[in-house]
Amino acid sequence: MTAASDESRETPRSRRSFIQLAGGSFLLATSGAVSAVAASCSSSPGEPSETTDRNALRLAPEAVPRDLTLHAGLGTADIGSGVMAPAMLLNGSLPSPLLRVRRGDAFRVTLQNQIGQPLILHWHGLAPPDTMDGHPRFAVPSGATYEYDFTVTARAGTYWYHPHTHMLTGEQTYRGLAGLIIVGDAEEDALDLPSGAREIPLILQDRRLAGGVPVYTPFGPDFMAGYMGPEPFGNGIRRPFLEVDSALYRFRVLNGSNARIFRLGRSDGNPLILIGNDGGLVAQSESVASIDIGPAERADFLVDLRAAAVGSNIMLRSLPFTIPGGGGFMGGANLQGQPLDLLELRVTRRVEDPSQIPVQLSVPGGPREADAVRERSFRFTSIAMNHLINGASFQLDRVDERVPFGETEIWSFINDSVVPHAVHLHATHFSVLSRMGGRGAVQPWERGLKDTVLLNPQETVRVAVRFTEFTGLYLFHCHLLEHEDMGMMLNILVE
Ligand code: C2O
Ligand code: CU
Ligand code: CU
Repeated sequence: MTAASDESRETPRSRRSFIQLAGGSFLLATSGAVSAVAASCSSSPGEPSETTDRNALRLAPEAVPRDLTLHAGLGTADIGSGVMAPAMLLNGSLPSPLLRVRRGDAFRVTLQNQIGQPLILHWHGLAPPDTMDGHPRFAVPSGATYEYDFTVTARAGTYWYHPHTHMLTGEQTYRGLAGLIIVGDAEEDALDLPSGAREIPLILQDRRLAGGVPVYTPFGPDFMAGYMGPEPFGNGIRRPFLEVDSALYRFRVLNGSNARIFRLGRSDGNPLILIGNDGGLVAQSESVASIDIGPAERADFLVDLRAAAVGSNIMLRSLPFTIPGGGGFMGGANLQGQPLDLLELRVTRRVEDPSQIPVQLSVPGGPREADAVRERSFRFTSIAMNHLINGASFQLDRVDERVPFGETEIWSFINDSVVPHAVHLHATHFSVLSRMGGRGAVQPWERGLKDTVLLNPQETVRVAVRFTEFTGLYLFHCHLLEHEDMGMMLNILVE
């Protein structure tokens, strides 16, 4: 498939959005520029890179989001070994500051936009009033500010925040505007999970480099498969390593990639101990060989290194996988399923760690199939540069679905395309009920409460949904950010 043939099949509407989208990125305006970019790329996206050096993992600076100003600006950040990369930064840091709150706390943040583009931030997984949720219609121009003020009602868990600017979410998130939000509560405290230096918040991202620094230069095929790259980054550091004790660790992982799916596992074949996901702790801990995590999903798991020898290195990897019906045909930019060494754990110190791994964790609750009063279905199609939900492309002010507040519904997500989608709903969490086709079952890491679910080609996923926090206009979209920016998003009016 070439860029030129895609273009000839575009509808007038998608052609218009394609041009607008291109205007927001660095390169590319016409199909002529597309081939020029492709030809001049010094390292092709699939090419292994030249160095095996690894860099020390960084942890994000922490902040309390109470009367906090987040200043968004352009700058540079160290991506390892002193290599300075241009980036969009919040308060000068890559990744963005980690915000720690307790359930029930006030959340008061002022966004100051100085990035030279419109900007609005979204608190992914929290459920604030709709004016506080970062809908793109609230984006402010560079030079302006936006005030957020609401109460955190989310369960203890790992959430995150990122831009939601109309047609610019992919670029702005990729260039560095993304951080974690960790919500704590008394129930979780009582479990005595690994904390302090043994709790590792980790944003995993793949990056494409030019001149040794990440670049966001999507062309032709990237607008179909999504923007991927061969280099693993953790918390903004290229090819990171972390020195660890022979102890039990908790990892709170966000897949902060624009489009790349990871199948997380340990290089030594030992399991990960799953304890939570998008909506906080699951009911019981569970040993799993690997965890699939699509864009925007979170995985909370324990890594047991108590038997590891000092001097040993254990890689947290993305294991190879194949997607039915997908991949391959779009050329080197589609790296979906290719293995990636994400974070090397270097065991440097022998300690005695008497920690217990709790079995019973929580009662996630959430909407139940038996309470459902209505069904809806959503068909995800990606054909010739058009990414549509039920045949529609996003419009800022059009209401696509009206959903009664407080009523439980069954929503079916149907993937009618050859690329995966990461289906995300704002303002609530849902329960995953079943999966037909593809992987054919609800996965262990999809139990409990989710706000994003991976929908591979040929899969139909049914979920139970209920809005219990606020009425208002909220978003429903694919979290492959190129798909979202090209219109794979709907407005849901909760009323
Ligand atoms: Cu994480 Cu609407 O997004
Ligand atoms: Cu969200
Ligand atoms: Cu998608």
